[in-house]
Amino acid sequence: MRAPGFSDTIYVMKRSRALKPLSSEHHQALLVSFQLKKGLAGHSESAGAPKDLPGLVALARRFEEQILRPHCRAEEELLGRYLTETDMRRLRGEHAELQRLLDAARGVGPAEQRTLLTAFADLLERHIRWEERDLFPYAELHVDEAALATIGGELEKRLVLARSETKSARR
Ligand SMILES: [Fe+2]
Repeated sequence: MRAPGFSDTIYVMKRSRALKPLSSEHHQALLVSFQLKKGLAGHSESAGAPKDLPGLVALARRFEEQILRPHCRAEEELLGRYLTETDMRRLRGEHAELQRLLDAARGVGPAEQRTLLTAFADLLERHIRWEERDLFPYAELHVDEAALATIGGELEKRLVLARSETKSARR
């Protein structure tokens, strides 16, 4: 069976406007996962990603700090109360595991770093697919329009703020 390419991982989603900021970050997450996998496999064509291990670790960390961390917090805080207990447990558990894998990749040898980054890229892709295919459709069915609009407004604010904080912290 042919390994799926990045184009296969982007699906057409009919996403409510409110959740679009999160969905567009999911696309970025899938790209990072794809780049990490290609880079780790030593592919010459790695979608613009670095091919050396330190470069890949840096790519994953940058993504985690700038996008993933505020993204996960926003999902848990804004969508959490509308989800089932089981889904909420999975959401929190996978967010924490993604963070743990990257934290563990600090200060270990290259072999272990490869293992941890591979696990991070795999879980990231699985997690995003689950959110897009199951979790968000569920939320869209169970959250009324007015609440969705409130969530959407809050998301815009938070994600814009998170971006500008990251920028000023890097100055
Ligand atoms: Fe997400």
